Amino acid sequence: MTDFLRLAEDIAREAGDMLLAKRPTMSREIETKSSPTDVVTTLDKASEALIRERILAARPDDRILGEEQGEAPGEGDVRWIVDPIDGTVNFLYGLPDWAVSIAVEVAGKVVAGVVNVPQRGEVYTAALGEGSWLGAERLRCNTGVPLSQALVATGFGYAKARRESQGEVVAKVLPRVRDIRRGGSCAIDICSLAAGRVDAYYERGVNQWDFAAAGLVATESGARLGGLHGRPVSSEFALCAAPGLFEELHDLLVSLDPLRGA
Ligand code: IPD
Ligand code: CA
Ligand code: CA
Repeated sequence: MTDFLRLAEDIAREAGDMLLAKRPTMSREIETKSSPTDVVTTLDKASEALIRERILAARPDDRILGEEQGEAPGEGDVRWIVDPIDGTVNFLYGLPDWAVSIAVEVAGKVVAGVVNVPQRGEVYTAALGEGSWLGAERLRCNTGVPLSQALVATGFGYAKARRESQGEVVAKVLPRVRDIRRGGSCAIDICSLAAGRVDAYYERGVNQWDFAAAGLVATESGARLGGLHGRPVSSEFALCAAPGLFEELHDLLVSLDPLRGA
C-alpha cells in the first residue's frame, strides 16, 4: 500500500468514526447552500476541518480542495480532494449510504483514493496501477452486460431547473435498461459499480470531490470513467461502466441531449 493511501485511509476512518459518534445528536444541525434542499450540517464542516488538520499535520505543504472550504491557492504538486460527507441528505435522514471521500492527486493525476462508508462498515480503497479493494477483497466491475440488462445508478443536482431536465433524461433511460438506482451518494454509486453491485453510473453536474476517489476505485476495477464525446470526466458530466456498456450508454445519453437546459 502506498504511503498516500495509508494516510488517506487513516484519516477517512478517523473522520468516519467521529461522524458515527456524533450523528445521533448533531446530524440535524443544518444550513442551506445553493437551494433550499442543498444542506450542509455542522458535521460536514467538522469532518472537513478534522481531515484538513490531519493532512496538514502530516504533509504541511500539500494543497487541499474540500467541498466546504474550497481550495487555498498553492503551488505544490500534491493535492488532496475531499468530500467530508458525500450523501449529506442520507446522513440527515439516518439512511446508511453516506461516505467520507478522500483522493490524492499528484501532478494532476489521482494516485490514491478512499471512500469510507462508516454506517455499513465498508471501506473502499484504490492505488493507481495497483488495484482497488473493498476491505481485503479485490474489486472487479461487471463486464459483458448489455444496456438492456444493466442496472444503472444516477443522481440529481439540487437546482430545480437542472432536476427537470435530469428527470426527462432518466425517464427515457428507464425503459431501455434493467432498472435505475438513486442511492444518494455519487462516491458510493461509483464504488458500487466497482464492486459489481450496479453496472453503470451517470450524472450531470457532480464535482471532483464527489468522484475523484471513487473514480480511481472504479477504473482500477476495470471500468471506464469519462465524460461525453471523449471528454474526460468533469463537473459537466460523469459516466462510468465497463468498456462496451460505457459506449452503449454513452450513445443513448447523447441521443437524449443530457446537457440541455440549466
Ligand atoms: C451529492 C451526492 C448525490 C449527487 C449530488 C451530490 P453531497 O453530494 O453525491 O448523490 O446526486 O449531485 O451533490 O451534497 O451529498 O455531498
Ligand atoms: Ca458530494
Ligand atoms: Ca458533501
